[in-house]
Amino acid sequence: MAKFFTLNTGAKMPSVGLGTWQSDPGVVGAAVTAAVEAGYRHIDCARIYKNEKEIGLALKKLFDEGIVKREDLFITSKLWCGDHDPQDVPVAMDSTLNDLQIDYVDLYLIHWPIRIKKGSNLSPENFLPPDIPATWAAMEKLYDSGKARAIGVSNFSTKKLENLLPVARVPPAVNQVECHPCWQQNKLRAFCQSAGVHLTAYSPLGSPGTTFIKGSNVLTHPIVNMVAEKVGKTPAQVALRWGLQMGHSLLPKSTSEARIKQNLDIYDWSIPDDLFGRFSEIEQARLLRGNFAAHPQSIYKTVEELWDGEI
Ligand code: A2P
Repeated sequence: MAKFFTLNTGAKMPSVGLGTWQSDPGVVGAAVTAAVEAGYRHIDCARIYKNEKEIGLALKKLFDEGIVKREDLFITSKLWCGDHDPQDVPVAMDSTLNDLQIDYVDLYLIHWPIRIKKGSNLSPENFLPPDIPATWAAMEKLYDSGKARAIGVSNFSTKKLENLLPVARVPPAVNQVECHPCWQQNKLRAFCQSAGVHLTAYSPLGSPGTTFIKGSNVLTHPIVNMVAEKVGKTPAQVALRWGLQMGHSLLPKSTSEARIKQNLDIYDWSIPDDLFGRFSEIEQARLLRGNFAAHPQSIYKTVEELWDGEI
């Protein structure tokens, strides 16, 4: 099974990366170090996670000690909703590069198809209509400059991706979205495949630690558990291996060294076809619904509008 996926830029993206959303300052540096020492070569970051400085310190130490070379790591970061104005895009990129102590990212993503006033929070009065073509043109300049070796999007529905492609001089390399056995993204997956956009799964375990998710059910789902028992692996490993076999990359988050290691141990075994087929029986539900973006003052009045009905 592929340890890498090749992006439309020709770059190779390691198929498992360490997620760092909700990895608190104080523990995220140790998690990145443990992951690289365990063999991870892909780290997923974002400015809004407010932990890039600590990740940068950990990366510097790993590079200085010769544990890994910069060119052997694939590092992603994301443009926050308050930085969508074209003149703010390179400034946000520079702050991320500065915090991560690197001079390029392997992938830079528009974090959400949502725009808020610069420096503001996600309160309703701060929402502005996004201008994705203008923001994308600024992303393309980062690609031209070499500060972002690939550019892409996150949380884009099929329709939003369809709208972006005709105006993109540099096509998006990746759409990073929620994806796991309980939200399999079949429509978006097929569109991404046809358009040459790689799909990356965030929350591939269903984010069991996220308090605002109701009924997070990937790791306790009876089919996932039945398969885990039959193949002699944990439910988390089965959820991740399902993703690999579906053909997408995965970003499991953990700050526990044992779970970080466990989540990479998904290459030298597989889910047999008969058991793999059972995943199509799982009832589908988006867990991270983006309720924060849907209200009367937002361009998206409902979550259905945010996701263009893919909910
Ligand atoms: P922890 O950081 O304590 O390991 P997701 O990547 O879907 O967002 O899920 C992340 C959540 O899943 C975190 O709460 C993380 O907790 C937990 N987690 C990560 N790996 C495993 C695993 N192998 N088994 C069970 N829970 C896990």
